[in-house]
Amino acid sequence: MISKINEIKEQALKDISGAKNALSLDNVWKKYLGRRDGKLTKVLRNVKKLPIEERPKVGELANTVRQEIILEINKTKASLSSGGSNSSIDIDRTLPGKNIKFGHLHPLTQMRFNVAQIFSSLGFEVLESNEIETEYYNFEALNIPKGHPARDMWDTFFIESKKNQKSKLLLQTHTSPMQIHVMEKRKPPLKVCVIGKCFRNEATDASHEHTIYQLEAFSVGKEISVANLIHTLKSFLGLLFKKEVEVRLRPSYFPFTEPSFEMDFKCLNCNGSGCQVCGQTGWVEILGCGMIHPKVYEAVGYPKNTYTGFAFGVGLDRLVMMKHQIDDIRWLHSGDLRFIRQF
Ligand code: DAH
Repeated sequence: MISKINEIKEQALKDISGAKNALSLDNVWKKYLGRRDGKLTKVLRNVKKLPIEERPKVGELANTVRQEIILEINKTKASLSSGGSNSSIDIDRTLPGKNIKFGHLHPLTQMRFNVAQIFSSLGFEVLESNEIETEYYNFEALNIPKGHPARDMWDTFFIESKKNQKSKLLLQTHTSPMQIHVMEKRKPPLKVCVIGKCFRNEATDASHEHTIYQLEAFSVGKEISVANLIHTLKSFLGLLFKKEVEVRLRPSYFPFTEPSFEMDFKCLNCNGSGCQVCGQTGWVEILGCGMIHPKVYEAVGYPKNTYTGFAFGVGLDRLVMMKHQIDDIRWLHSGDLRFIRQF
């Protein structure tokens, strides 16, 4: 028995020194130490069948050999993986390394993270919107009933809905429906910022896309006024462009706000004197905003004449275009790596 164990040891050490890689070392392990059929394992298993006086000696030797084999396998493994002298991998350490290309976040994703961080620093809760909505949330609850002319501006893709479905499903055209979802569930004070993907049935061109990202922010409470709206907008743009920004409001129309405004900011490129970026006007149109319409409060079941609040919505694609001076919105969803790698 003793000579058999010594024989196994010699064979094992020979196999180990001949192993070229980790896989062959694993096979050596299996061959000698494998739980079921390992050569040495079998010997150890049979020790109990030996006459009682032989058992300690044989058992001890078999265990010592087992430890030696394990040690040798581990040593060889370590030296193979560090490219040691036993290694079959030929490494020339003087060669220049491989240039690994790192990816990065898409400019739109960078902008989403950036605005989320800004609004959260202004005390707004940041939420993500749905992408599929019902006609009720996208339109009716926002004071855009069936047949309202404003629906033309927000024509979208309808989704086949079940016959018994009360309100048809569609791809949301704006993030404003989240105003309804949030207000239905909670009472003011509210300061919420929503980011989401929106869809429109557009004939695409340099400034129109069928899929866009929008940011919506709204605040509802007691005695919230246009002054709060202007302050929030100025703070937001100041933090975004890292500059003091001058803004102006022009009267406009949105069914879910009253009064409604279009907000412009003084062109940062020419400081208001007129250039190509602002179409020689000195001002850049950026977003729609206003004071939340009483009909919206009615839709969510808030008591009459109790709360006031502002809301605004801005296209993130437009912000990215302004920031990087991109002349065609279609680049953003093109998936063209020549474009994306520039940011
Ligand atoms: N939802 C509007 C759009 O998609 C943007 C908007 C305008 C949002 C005015 C607002 C708002 O919250 O008050 O064109």
